[in-house]
Amino acid sequence: MIDIEKIRKDFPMLEGKSMQGKPLVYLDNAATSFKPYSVIKAVTDYYANYTSNSHRGDYDIAHQVDVMVEDTRKKVADFINSKPTEVVFTSGTSMSINMVAFGYGMKFLKSGDEILLTQAEHASNVLPWFKVAEMTGAQINYIPLDKEGRLTPENLAKVISSKTKIVAVAHVTNVLGFVVDIKEIAKIAHAQGAILVCDGAQSVPHMKTNVKDWDVDFLSFSGHKMLGPTGIGVLYGKFSLLEKMDPFMTGGGQTAKFDMCGDVNFLAPPIKFEAGTQNLAGIAGLGAAIDYLTNIGMDNIEEYERNLKRYAVEKLAEADNVIVYNPHSEAGIVTFNIKDVFAQDAASFFNSRGVAVRSGQHCAKILIDFLHVVSTCRASFYFYNTKAEIDAFVEAARHGGDFLDAYL
Ligand SMILES: Cc1ncc(COP(=O)(O)O)c(C=O)c1O
Repeated sequence: MIDIEKIRKDFPMLEGKSMQGKPLVYLDNAATSFKPYSVIKAVTDYYANYTSNSHRGDYDIAHQVDVMVEDTRKKVADFINSKPTEVVFTSGTSMSINMVAFGYGMKFLKSGDEILLTQAEHASNVLPWFKVAEMTGAQINYIPLDKEGRLTPENLAKVISSKTKIVAVAHVTNVLGFVVDIKEIAKIAHAQGAILVCDGAQSVPHMKTNVKDWDVDFLSFSGHKMLGPTGIGVLYGKFSLLEKMDPFMTGGGQTAKFDMCGDVNFLAPPIKFEAGTQNLAGIAGLGAAIDYLTNIGMDNIEEYERNLKRYAVEKLAEADNVIVYNPHSEAGIVTFNIKDVFAQDAASFFNSRGVAVRSGQHCAKILIDFLHVVSTCRASFYFYNTKAEIDAFVEAARHGGDFLDAYL
């Protein structure tokens, strides 16, 4: 059970902040989430009380940092059901996917190989693959979406072949919010000898993650979308794949030795991939974020958000000026337009009512050909949102046609 009143007191951004003189209704959680005091405290605690670098010092506070980093790695591993040696700290989902594309794809793909994506992917799960395909001669193809925009195992099975070496898809898509049956997708990919690179940016913050059960080969996610600080993220990889993969970045801290002839011995994963000084304050904050989420319970979070989504869709259906593009998707994301109103104008109107929603293409620029619209608005929920906030959002949507009066 979510104790919403108690939870809301944990977030300074929810403490009576206003926008345009109205109570702030923040519905852009797919972009980034608010942070509870415990996360802010973990970050400031690192800066105020034990600032020093990791893996380099022989003094007490440096040891304290090392312990914090490895404790957090263990927390992440427990949170996603992996081993700590399979958890690489990165700056976020984008960096994690780039690491796989350039460290694994560049090394193992060759001309004639195929990378399968979908039209619903975020730019971060498209553009690195475009570049790798260009450099290796591999080909990008797309798994067709069903008529609502969902990736189904059946559609993957129809197009995958022995040429397919990488299937790179989001577990939850960031515009339509469909939850993909990732375990089935992994089975189908593996049956053809392909690996599954899963973008977990929109799933890990909102539901229980179990990389072992799902059998994904790589999983990427961002701390800032799950209560953590910006600039910290994770790449999970099966240890055997991390061993084979090259580091995408090189620098201090990741080698056992190197010599003047250019011979380099990298340390074992995950350290092999963590070149240079890491985002130590970010790691401290991520650890606190995972503690907070674990305490509430990922199943509770998922159920609560699904209910909010259902409630929002029901209420919006009563407003005859709103087009919802994803009424049947599971995640707490509603993508919509106000009839005859350009999405950016609608979002400005929502802003005038204190409601923060996103407009545009949400970095999923090839999805617009599927949706046949140039831009949409997106409201995305987290477990600290309330039904009263959804009511305020729906009330604003009903008046969305008055956008020219927004700032009168
Ligand atoms: C599905 C998906 N993948 C990747 C990203 C990129 O995440 P980041 O900007 O944290 O690297 C996002 C961000 O919105 C996303 O929604």
